[in-house]
Amino acid sequence: MSALFTPYRLKDVSLRNRIAVPPMCQYSAVDGVTNDWHLAHYTGLARGGAGLVIVEATAVSPEGRITPGCTGLWTDEQAGGMARIAAAIKSAGAVPGIQIGHAGRKASANRPWEGDDHIGEDDPRGWETLSPSAVAFGANLPKVPKAMTLEDIERVKADFVAAARRARDAGFEWLELHFAHGYLAQSFFSVHANRRDDRYGGDFAGRSRFLLETLAAVREVWPENLPLAARFGVIEYDGRDEQTLAESIELAKEFRRGGLDLLSVSVGFSTPESDIPWGPAFLAPVAGRVRREAELPVASAWGIDAPENADRAVAEGDLDLVMVGRAHLADPHWPYHAAQQLKLERPSWVLPAPYAHWLERYRVAR
Ligand SMILES: Cc1cc2nc3c(=O)[nH]c(=O)nc-3n(C[C@H](O)[C@H](O)[C@H](O)COP(=O)(O)O)c2cc1C
Repeated sequence: MSALFTPYRLKDVSLRNRIAVPPMCQYSAVDGVTNDWHLAHYTGLARGGAGLVIVEATAVSPEGRITPGCTGLWTDEQAGGMARIAAAIKSAGAVPGIQIGHAGRKASANRPWEGDDHIGEDDPRGWETLSPSAVAFGANLPKVPKAMTLEDIERVKADFVAAARRARDAGFEWLELHFAHGYLAQSFFSVHANRRDDRYGGDFAGRSRFLLETLAAVREVWPENLPLAARFGVIEYDGRDEQTLAESIELAKEFRRGGLDLLSVSVGFSTPESDIPWGPAFLAPVAGRVRREAELPVASAWGIDAPENADRAVAEGDLDLVMVGRAHLADPHWPYHAAQQLKLERPSWVLPAPYAHWLERYRVAR
């Protein structure tokens, strides 16, 4: 029996297996509005058999986009496009999820395939970026952000709440707060980005405050019976990892007490001065430690795309859900092929019935 293909229930939501498609930006929206590309892309992924499909990092405000091509949820028109995507994902048997976020000091960037750097200062396509402190990320992202005022902080929290409401009304059943990858929320937690001396900076409590307040505010509007998750970078690989990880686990416990249902464990990406030990499933043991010590369900990604590794991560109790990203871009039917490789008795039934029935009959008839 494969652990990867056991169903998973969280709150009132049931996933058909432990495979999730993590959020992956398509950088293909105009003014934050999705189009035929997004609909085709997400429908195809959902059809492939994953239990959960999480729509890409969707900005809570115009300045919160990573690039001009990022999706948004600050207008009703944007929500209308997202409602079609949520319904399409659901029609293929997957649970529709969405990640909402604010890119902070990494915003106002060119698309990855058009430079992957900050838009030039004189280029009218760019905009002022926000961060806890006026400290640039560096490397390819040298733009110095504006240090947020207390009014800015209140507004962005309200933007998260408004986007969560729109996600709820658009039919999403799983919400992920983007607290990772060096974007705004991660920057509040990170000593690399946060130099504030008010109550939103300094010690552990200060650097955690923006994240916990945002979680609390969103929890108020996100239905109690639906999963509320967050993606958070628990480690930076910057040479002070034990300290960061210990603080991250404390924060994960606070998240749990604040009503978070699952943590998607990731890397902080708050500094270009890091040495990440890339390799198959390198983060899974770290996620397992967070799961056990914080007593919170976890998901994780990063190279967990060999079916045996994915299966083992669930079987050994490191992960509740396995996020399979790039491998899904190469093969949207990754779950079906994983089921074949793991020798499930009827691998076709990983796919929706209109496909599965015929593949199964064909296999038998041959
Ligand atoms: C094209 C692309 C876009 C991505 N966009 C996001 C995003 O919107 N939000 C996020 O949290 N991570 C994003 N990521 C990271 C993925 O969610 C995932 O963590 C990463 O690809 C590692 O998993 P993998 O090895 O299975 O691909 C993106 C990755 C890729 C390749």
